[in-house]
Amino acid sequence: MIELSGVGYSYGDSRLFGDITLSLAPGAFHFLTGPSGAGKTTLLKLCYLELAPDEGQIDIFGKDAAALNRDDIAKARQRIGVVHQDCQFIDHMPLAENIMLPLRVAGRDHAAEQNNLRDLMAWVGLGDKADALPPELSGGERQRAALARAVIMSPDVILADEPTGNVDWDMSLRLLTLLVELNRMGKSVLLATHDLALIRQAKAQVPARVLRLRDRVLQQAGSDL
Ligand SMILES: Nc1ncnc2c1ncn2[C@@H]1O[C@H](COP(=O)(O)OP(=O)(O)OP(=O)(O)O)[C@@H](O)[C@H]1O
Ligand SMILES: [Mg+2]
Repeated sequence: MIELSGVGYSYGDSRLFGDITLSLAPGAFHFLTGPSGAGKTTLLKLCYLELAPDEGQIDIFGKDAAALNRDDIAKARQRIGVVHQDCQFIDHMPLAENIMLPLRVAGRDHAAEQNNLRDLMAWVGLGDKADALPPELSGGERQRAALARAVIMSPDVILADEPTGNVDWDMSLRLLTLLVELNRMGKSVLLATHDLALIRQAKAQVPARVLRLRDRVLQQAGSDL
């Protein structure tokens, strides 16, 4: 699905990491951990082609990302659901519309997806917030909405950046269950998190791999988690 080979990235003169190799295969569930500032968000941005690497190659759905034109990139992105760490929404648009936006952009029949939308919003605990405007939501509610928006298209790959950073433990488990179910349906999941308890919980349910970004390299974490 997404493969990074020998990837390096710098912001200006400051080298963040190098020689990153990562293969997100169909049906894989990977966690991405590491200290704040290590580059987790940057690595996810490389995976969804918001950033281009300084070194190495990124293959996306079997194609070299560097050879893709804008249309190809837009098509590839439709197969990737992203939960951004900062959860941006269109503030004047009701929440349900925001969550449906990826369907609209892709030209899909969103009327046919109303049941799906309702179920998804109920699952993430936002069943009564369809008409709310994003600025009226709490941080945790925004995160839950961002996850709903990321999965509404039923993407092949889900990249989630700290999707449970602002929610309580019960809701974290609920969001994890959603991701585990999607993973069991064959979706690939890459989830950046600091929450070791969440990782332990996931590992009891799926054969998740834990990657740690630290000191400019990506390593597979041991089984001590
Ligand atoms: N647009 C940018 N320009 C310059 N430096 C940046 C930019 N974005 C991030 N950085 C720097 O790159 C480093 C890695 O940032 P990144 O957001 O990828 O880390 P992170 O591992 O996701 O951290 P956190 O756990 O706090 O979310 C940080 O030192 C950050 O200040
Ligand atoms: Mg981050």
